[in-house]
Amino acid sequence: MKILVTGGAGYIGSHTVRRLIEHDYSPVILDNLSTGNLRSVTEGVPFYQGNINDKELVRRILVDEEITAVLHFAASAYVGESITNPIKYYANNVSSTISLTETLLENGVTKFVFSSSCATYGIPNASPITEETQQCPINPYGQTKLDVESFLGNLCKYSKFRATALRYFNAAGAAINGENGEEHNPETHLIPLVLRSILNPDKPISIFGDDYDTPDGTCIRDYTHVEDLAEAHCLALRNLSDETPWKFYNLGTGQGYSILEIIDMAERVSGQKAHYTLSERRPGDPDSLIADCSKAGKELNWCPKHSSLYTIMESAWNWETR
Ligand code: UFG
Repeated sequence: MKILVTGGAGYIGSHTVRRLIEHDYSPVILDNLSTGNLRSVTEGVPFYQGNINDKELVRRILVDEEITAVLHFAASAYVGESITNPIKYYANNVSSTISLTETLLENGVTKFVFSSSCATYGIPNASPITEETQQCPINPYGQTKLDVESFLGNLCKYSKFRATALRYFNAAGAAINGENGEEHNPETHLIPLVLRSILNPDKPISIFGDDYDTPDGTCIRDYTHVEDLAEAHCLALRNLSDETPWKFYNLGTGQGYSILEIIDMAERVSGQKAHYTLSERRPGDPDSLIADCSKAGKELNWCPKHSSLYTIMESAWNWETR
């Protein structure tokens, strides 16, 4: 089965391409390389550089490669940037996804797995967060992901489209075999920055606030290994169905760690000191985001295997020091 992976040169997309191959799917990548990079593209996998709203290019890929389903990762994904440049986020995440789905429907491709986010919940009114927790985003990034979810829900109701949204909590870690890892530019995520502060004491990490309503005052997040997220896409693809055309799942572990606990684990795994300073809160950071992921366990049979904090950190450290 040939699967189009938009954003297949990005962090989660490139890990999923490798996992698809292990499951005997044949991935085909479409990526404009605006944030992804060629180094992450698996050798031998057909690669097209371009935009998802380039209808002629997408149509050609669907026909020439005989695509049967799409995993849609391609998106702009920096919360801070979405606040300073909301138009970019509505254009890339909402308009372009609508254009992509239109081309898919025109060409009879109706199976779709969408990268959504826990950012759709905003500041949750309950913890852990279930799929029924109210979605009330607090930044344009989260809002665009929610808008696409709402659009897909309607598309599935009123067309032949079959879609599943996967709401990631904090993707983290690197491939266990060391071949692939996190390479954002600029890097804004906590774990790689903490590890780099160990390797480069001149670049300490800033802890964004220690007065949150958590036991040690720093924000708590649910870190999920990128290989476990990749596996969930393969399961979601297999699970797309006509009986329930529209589905959505949280992907997390149910276990949260504070920033200080992350720093502590980074020091344990590396055997070295991390370097950090304390700074102001970053706008738009909820105190704590922890998933209830029992629905994905029950319906997709998803069970994270690599998401202990030790394994996440060890794989990320091996990647950073490769
Ligand atoms: N943090 C710091 N210093 C840094 C970077 C991060 O203190 O230099 C803190 C953040 O304030 C946050 C925690 O570490 O409390 C985790 O931050 P990340 O940037 O690693 O991750 P986020 O939780 O902000 O973002 C992730 C995804 C987003 C998604 C969001 C949903 O990367 O795509 O979760 O809340 F939208």
